Amino acid sequence: MRKKTILLHLVLIIVLGVVVAGCGGKGASSASGPKDIRIGFAQCKADESDWRMANTRSMLDTFKGPGYQLTLSDSNNDAAKQVADVQGFIDQEYDYIVIAAVNMDGWDTVLRNAQAAKIPVILVDRNINAPQDLWTSYVGPDFKVEGEKATAWMAKHFGSNPVNVVNLQGQLGSGAQVGRSAALDDAIASNSNWTLVARQTGEWSTDVAKQVMTSWIQQYGSTINCVYAENDNMADGAIQALQERGIKVGGADGVAIISFDANRPYLQMTLAGLINCNVECNPLHGPRVKQIIDNLESGGQPKKIEIIDEEAFYWDTITQAIIDARQY
Ligand code: AHR
Repeated sequence: MRKKTILLHLVLIIVLGVVVAGCGGKGASSASGPKDIRIGFAQCKADESDWRMANTRSMLDTFKGPGYQLTLSDSNNDAAKQVADVQGFIDQEYDYIVIAAVNMDGWDTVLRNAQAAKIPVILVDRNINAPQDLWTSYVGPDFKVEGEKATAWMAKHFGSNPVNVVNLQGQLGSGAQVGRSAALDDAIASNSNWTLVARQTGEWSTDVAKQVMTSWIQQYGSTINCVYAENDNMADGAIQALQERGIKVGGADGVAIISFDANRPYLQMTLAGLINCNVECNPLHGPRVKQIIDNLESGGQPKKIEIIDEEAFYWDTITQAIIDARQY
């Protein structure tokens, strides 16, 4: 009898042990293996500019490791398509959605859908016009502050002399364009010797900017003494157009060139004196987004808004050593 009782107890202990492990006990997670975190990344246009390529590379490199599964959707800078891309991530029940917004507007409905699906949304690089409760975190620059660094240099360079500036804008409605253009508008409004000669979008593109600058040279000629280009690629296009017409660019007495992004090849142009002032817009957001996601995964509460500190570089103070030390 006693032997039978012991045997019965042993069987009961083994049966109970298996049931506990199978009901989410310690053994359950090791049995099923760690679940990859699925991240949907709605990118503007992955290869649109040197900056965007560096940004895309940073995101892909950061999340290629184990534990994450990042899917990049390229909207080709089409705002409506990007909203549809985000809805696609919601429908496929991604764990996180990361957005570098083509346009500041048009986000409320799809972000409400993400909220209803309990999918955290992280804004990277580009800010948007939507209620803050619809997104979890923003990490990126303050674009207006970037513009103010550029206009501060212009004020110092021109002093009380006339400033006849043309403005090559980024894609209209993007946070980067809105912020940088607003800084120029403020400076023009508060300096009576500043005149906005012309402004038009160069679509972040070297070729489009070169075409626009060529037509401005034909219309306004030597009146123009400053180009405020809202990214490096457009600054390059403007420089090509000016140089092809034998117009002196940069340095102490050429047409002053303002640029944004500070990609390494364009910092070389700054060192060469072709770009007078190049304001950094740091694209290396992959690790910053990962930090936010890892924080959320561990039950933390990331900052709502994380503004990245950025520098500006000038033709008469930048050095090769500074350029060589840059990460992008
Ligand atoms: O949002 C950052 C801007 O987007 C960069 O200045 C530009 O090059 C890119 O298209």
